[in-house]
Parts: sequence; structure tokens; C-alpha cells
Amino acid sequence: MSHSNVEKGILRYGWWSRFNHWLIAICFVALTLSGLALFYPAFFGLTSLFGGPTATRIIHPFIGVFMCFFFVIQAVRFFKANLFRRHDVQWARQIRDVLSNRDDRLPPVGQNNAGQKLVYWVFLFSVPVLLVSGIIIWQPYFAMAMPRELLRWGAMIHAYVAFIAIITLVIHVYSAIWVKGSIRAMTRGRVSRAWAKHHHRLWYDEIVRGEKQGDDTRLPATSETTRKST
Ligand code: HEM
Repeated sequence: MSHSNVEKGILRYGWWSRFNHWLIAICFVALTLSGLALFYPAFFGLTSLFGGPTATRIIHPFIGVFMCFFFVIQAVRFFKANLFRRHDVQWARQIRDVLSNRDDRLPPVGQNNAGQKLVYWVFLFSVPVLLVSGIIIWQPYFAMAMPRELLRWGAMIHAYVAFIAIITLVIHVYSAIWVKGSIRAMTRGRVSRAWAKHHHRLWYDEIVRGEKQGDDTRLPATSETTRKST
């Protein structure tokens, strides 16, 4: 299947990338709600969403492990697109222009901008830390076997890193809503050529070069160019 299509636009995320992403997103929101319910008395009422306090305590770590499985797949698939390049430094330096919607002043970027890349790396750091610290404090399976001091550290690290991950998610969702057309990219998979050119010029140029050469294999793995998109 061709990567770009005059009527349908350019394929940014194939069906598997989208399915995987939304599965992670649902799990992450469930983890946030159940985690807050367990950690802070003010949010205790949220336990009713998961069938009560005991059920919440049981379900929370299982959702975490389930999410990690799909997270690893996503992290591997999106890895290359999130490596920092020289042009990202200039984009980051102009963060004031980004926040003031002065897009015309920004340097061209690749498939992801420096902000998206930073979000990727914060998640890549925080999810494994949450997994390991979560396993350490997981009752009744592992916590019993852990020294008291390690349990204390585990609980503290789990809470702080969860806070970082939740704030990062809020920023991620906010920017997805803010940049018009982003949500569509993750729901339908395709973006308009104008959108790609405006927000990710270097990525767009790469696609155009690929079209001219009739070569889709140089395009990003997240686009699943070799698979049929739904
Ligand atoms: C309700 C929650 C979420 C919403 C509404 C959301 C929305 C989106 C949207 C619209 C995009 C496409 C952006 C673009 O291509 O310009 C995207 C990409 C992405 N999302 Fe999410 N997302 C959510 C949760 C998550 C979570 C929990 C993670 C990881 C733990 C995550 C990781 C990513 C990654 C890695 C990308 C690809 C862009 C990049 O590499 O930075 N998202 N998301």
C-alpha cells in the first residue's frame, strides 16, 4: 500500500500503532485513577470505579503489568523517530515561539518535534521505574520478601515517578488537543499533506522524496507502510 494518497492524505500511524497506543492510554488512565485512589485519601471515592477498595488494590498492579507489555512494543517501534537530532535543539530553544503559536518562526522538524521526543523519553524512563518499584511493593506476592528499607524506597519512588508520568501525560494530551489535526492522526491514522508540511516539514520532504523514488521502505516504522492500513 502506498504511504501517501492525494485524497486520504499521508499515513502517520498504521492500525496497529493506533490500537497499541490507545490500549496503553486506557490502561494509563485506569492506573492513574486507581493509583490516586490508593495513595491519597482525598481520591478514595475513585475506588468505586474499580469495584471497591480491595478490588482496586488487586487490579492496579495487574493493569500495570499488562500495560508494560504493550508499552515495550510501542517504545521499540517509536524509538528511531524519537532520537534527538541537531535541528531539535533549535526548536527547543524557540519554545517561546512554540507556546505563542508563532509556527512560522520555527525550524523544520522531522516526524516528531523535540517536545514529543521529550515526552517519549520521560515515559521510557518512568514506566520501567514504575514497574520495578511497583513489583517491590506488590502485596501479597513480592512485598513480603522485601526488606523494610527497600519497601520504603519502593513506595516513595513509585509515588514520585507516578507524579512525573501523570504530569507528562497531561502535557501530552494538552499538546495533542492544542495542535489541531493531531488527534485525527492517532484516531484515523492519516494527516493532510498541508498538516504534514506545516508541522513536520523534514518528515514531509522525506515522504515526497520516497514518492518520487517509488520507495516506501525508507519511511518510518510507525507508519506501517508494509501493512495494510485500516
Ligand atoms: C488519554 C491519553 C492520551 C491521548 C489523548 C494521546 C494522544 C496522542 C496523539 C493525538 C498522538 C499523535 C501526535 C502526533 O502524531 O502529532 C499521540 C502520540 C503518541 N503518544 Fe499518546 N496519548 C495518550 C496517552 C499516551 C500514553 C499513556 C503514552 C505512553 C505511556 C503515549 C505515548 C505516545 C507516543 C510515544 C506517541 C508518538 C509520538 C511520540 O513518539 O512522541 N500516549 N498521542
